[in-house]
Amino acid sequence: MSRCVALVPAAGFGQRFGSPTPKQYLDLVGRPLMAHTLATLAAVPAIDLVAVVVSPGDEWFDGFDWSGIAKLTVLRVGGASRAQSVQNGLSALRADGRLADADWLLVHDAARCCVSVELVERLIATLADDPVGGLLALPVPDTVKRADAAGRIAATVSRSGLWLAQTPQMFRAATLAEALEQGASDAITDEASAVEALGLAPRLVEGDAQNFKVTYPRDLALAAAILAARTGQ
Ligand code: C5P
Repeated sequence: MSRCVALVPAAGFGQRFGSPTPKQYLDLVGRPLMAHTLATLAAVPAIDLVAVVVSPGDEWFDGFDWSGIAKLTVLRVGGASRAQSVQNGLSALRADGRLADADWLLVHDAARCCVSVELVERLIATLADDPVGGLLALPVPDTVKRADAAGRIAATVSRSGLWLAQTPQMFRAATLAEALEQGASDAITDEASAVEALGLAPRLVEGDAQNFKVTYPRDLALAAAILAARTGQ
């Protein structure tokens, strides 16, 4: 099987979170939030390299000790959008020969800090021979409503066939590079949508509700409880 490289965009400022310190650097059970994310990815035996993309003006990364996380490399090439950060990171890895066209790239949000080794291994095992690649996702469990401008229900949408996209999203480096080059960066909120725009159909691999993205301050307590339960703290 080809090599697997994890790419973690962490150049956002978490506007919805509303903290002066970007959420990926907030303390969570004694370490910066994204240290949990990076350590879990590094603990997956099939992953050879974990590359984290931070903004060129990042003032926080160097304030922490990352030496305990094997396979980690930092790329200070973050862009104005998540898609741009991923594209810049991918280009940097290809330019210095650390990523070949046929390698699998697993793009994972820094803020999905409760991802588990087992979940990533399930994704890699399911997609190992897939011609396109795919992503972790969850079938929508609730009844779905479309709102009108007044905050009232305009329609009830059938949830049949609807999934919530998670990460990692796993594609061949060359496929993802082509997809991101062709896509308009503002419209791309995940890698799969860029690959879909090439006319390809990424595979959905069942994820886990614990692999949620820390988005609002209230999410921290849930993430802390999940991580503490795993380590028996
Ligand atoms: O803001 P949101 O949580 O949706 O961002 C998803 C991921 O993309 C986060 O890990 C965030 O740090 C990253 N990101 C980035 N560059 C940006 C914006 C977001 O790397 N310009």
